[in-house]
Amino acid sequence: MFDRSIKIAPSILSADFANFGAECRAIEAQGADWVHVDVMDGHFVPNLTFGPAMCAAIRKHIKGVMDVHLMISPVDAYIDAYAKAGADVITAHLEAGPHIHRTLQAIRATGAKAGLALNPGTGLDALPHLLDMVDLICVMTVNPGFGGQKFIGSQLEKIRAIRAMIGDRPVHIEIDGGVTVETAPLVAAAGADVLVAGSAVFSGGSVDSPSVYGTNIAAIRAAAEAARG
Ligand code: DX5
Ligand code: ZN
Repeated sequence: MFDRSIKIAPSILSADFANFGAECRAIEAQGADWVHVDVMDGHFVPNLTFGPAMCAAIRKHIKGVMDVHLMISPVDAYIDAYAKAGADVITAHLEAGPHIHRTLQAIRATGAKAGLALNPGTGLDALPHLLDMVDLICVMTVNPGFGGQKFIGSQLEKIRAIRAMIGDRPVHIEIDGGVTVETAPLVAAAGADVLVAGSAVFSGGSVDSPSVYGTNIAAIRAAAEAARG
């Protein structure tokens, strides 16, 4: 069921890499709505992370939505593998290849929800041609590749423009990068509903002190909901 309520999606890029199963169980128990998995290839972005086998392994520890963000190029050849690994949402970048239309069709053909990610330097010219093929638009508020970067405020205008273009279509607006208690109200007021947060959720906590995750998630959610009015 589609709704525009605020959803917090912790990015496990900031989790303990030796303990993903326990980390996923901990963030869900502490109120995470979705689990965000950042897949990086060392080519489209300057970092390397999770292959499909890793996603399939952690899937067993996630009860809710597994939100897979593919920062890889080429992307089409890997879509089926991430769908088989259990991704509920698969997001590809507009900048990752010449045929984003085909990529989005391929994602939907697997049965997964299709997400379209836009880097901070990317405009919205293509959006009217893609809006009816997507379930989510991911607005990058940092340049992709690493957690813990500073929020790029110029993206707020882009979020507002996308919200207006979506109208009443059932398309989520996800924000990825630099989401904190300070920036969550700005993006929520601009029209976002899915807030990815890595460092702001995991900092100060651990699987042995999971209540810190809960406090962090609740604070981001409260700040975003307050800004919605
Ligand atoms: C950046 C990733 C983000 C990142 C968010 O390339 O797509 O999901 O992990 O991390 P924070 O919230 O620390 O900016
Ligand atoms: Zn991401």
